[in-house]
Amino acid sequence: MLSNQLLDALNDQVNFEFYSSYTYLAMAAYAESVDLSGVANFFRVQAQEEMSHAMKFYDYIFQKGGMVKLEAIEKPKVEYNNIIEVFETGFNHEQTVTRRIYELADIATAEREHATMSLLKWFVDEQVEEENNFQTILKKVRRLEGNPAAMYMLDEELATRVFTPPTTQGN
Ligand code: FEO
Repeated sequence: MLSNQLLDALNDQVNFEFYSSYTYLAMAAYAESVDLSGVANFFRVQAQEEMSHAMKFYDYIFQKGGMVKLEAIEKPKVEYNNIIEVFETGFNHEQTVTRRIYELADIATAEREHATMSLLKWFVDEQVEEENNFQTILKKVRRLEGNPAAMYMLDEELATRVFTPPTTQGN
């Protein structure tokens, strides 16, 4: 059985992962609006990935005998000036997610809740990949500023991303 403090924090993270999904879907919509369908694909896949993160916490709460409490999801940022701002916002968002996962891990560690620590270890590792993905693409889009032909090639590259659902055991 999870403590109320941990249960509330995990439920809060379910909400935040859905908010992340919504945030990236808004970025996909912006990319569509400026005819970058590959970038839009990248963010649609990212939105699916965030949904799968939410469900990983959701399933875990029930496995531990808790109750999932769904709340309203905050409206995401929907207006952007350019594609650099989109990836900057995405990178900042992932850094926020990492901070939140660390805070959850701190609670689980203080309570010696080893099963939750194990779940969070998966997310700690996942965040290394998430931050790195965004940082790498952000560097590229900054370099490509004012070079539409190169941006077109990056857009083609991002069009190939596909969603791979995480397994129930790990990644
Ligand atoms: Fe669910 Fe991108 O972290």
